[in-house]
Amino acid sequence: MTPVLEARNLVRDYHIPGSLLKRARIVHAVKGVSFAVDQGKTLAIVGESGCGKSTLARIVTMIDPATSGEMLIDGEKVDIARDGLTSEMRRKVQIVFQNPYGTLNPRKKIGDILSEPLIINTRMKADERRDMAMAMLKKVGLEEKHYGRYPHMFSGGQRQRVAIARALMLNPRLLVLDEPVSALDLSVQAQVLNLLADLQDEFQLTYVFISHDLSVVRYIADDVMVMYYGEAVEYGSREEVFSDPKHSYTKTLFAATPRADVDSIKARLARKAA
Ligand SMILES: Nc1ncnc2c1ncn2[C@@H]1O[C@H](COP(=O)(O)OP(=O)(O)OP(=O)(O)O)[C@@H](O)[C@H]1O
Ligand SMILES: [Mg+2]
Repeated sequence: MTPVLEARNLVRDYHIPGSLLKRARIVHAVKGVSFAVDQGKTLAIVGESGCGKSTLARIVTMIDPATSGEMLIDGEKVDIARDGLTSEMRRKVQIVFQNPYGTLNPRKKIGDILSEPLIINTRMKADERRDMAMAMLKKVGLEEKHYGRYPHMFSGGQRQRVAIARALMLNPRLLVLDEPVSALDLSVQAQVLNLLADLQDEFQLTYVFISHDLSVVRYIADDVMVMYYGEAVEYGSREEVFSDPKHSYTKTLFAATPRADVDSIKARLARKAA
């Protein structure tokens, strides 16, 4: 099976210009990272602040160029070093950020936020767009009455549902989720994680899930990549990485993690619903 996403030796250097008192320097944010994700699977990328996770997310979503390396989507090479990207390629990969409030236009109603990608990228008629937006609202656990409301009228968890709905409007091949639940309360985290898992099952979605929280990773991931100063120091199936961490950094990371377990939250939610 051809992976949905294949990254080969991705490198990203940032050139920091000098000033009168400081010399110019280069930050090696990502130092040659390779991975692949099959359809319907989740690769979790973990690591401490500044290790290059978001840089990688921006390369994969084609927001930022890579300095070097190769990327293939459905086996087709993407021009990540330059701007020769087609909108066709771009729409195959969508991103959800940690803080949806920053990315949802506060002056637009939810319905318009969801329809916007369709206006730009398709020839759908207004009523078709509306139907699709309504259907997507329901898919992410919101209701038709939310269609005409503004982002500030929603809770954090609901806003993240809107961001997920918007990301799915163009039927992407890959969803990159950069700390999508980190700003939410624990019980809301579990609900959004369950939603992502349900959507993945229903649409055979492929995820790159970035997190610094190992209990979340343990719950959501098929494969895990641990990054440390721009390098992938560990990469394997969730079972491999969790049961037998190889790198000394991963061992320290695991030892230092409190076990606020998403499984127990999930069980609690299930009990509540019963
Ligand atoms: N636009 C930029 N210009 C210069 N340096 C940058 C830029 N973006 C990121 N960096 C640097 O690249 C490195 C990796 O940053 P990145 O944001 O990818 O880390 P991260 O793993 O996402 O961290 P966090 O967990 O805090 O979100 C850091 O040293 C950061 O300072
Ligand atoms: Mg980041």
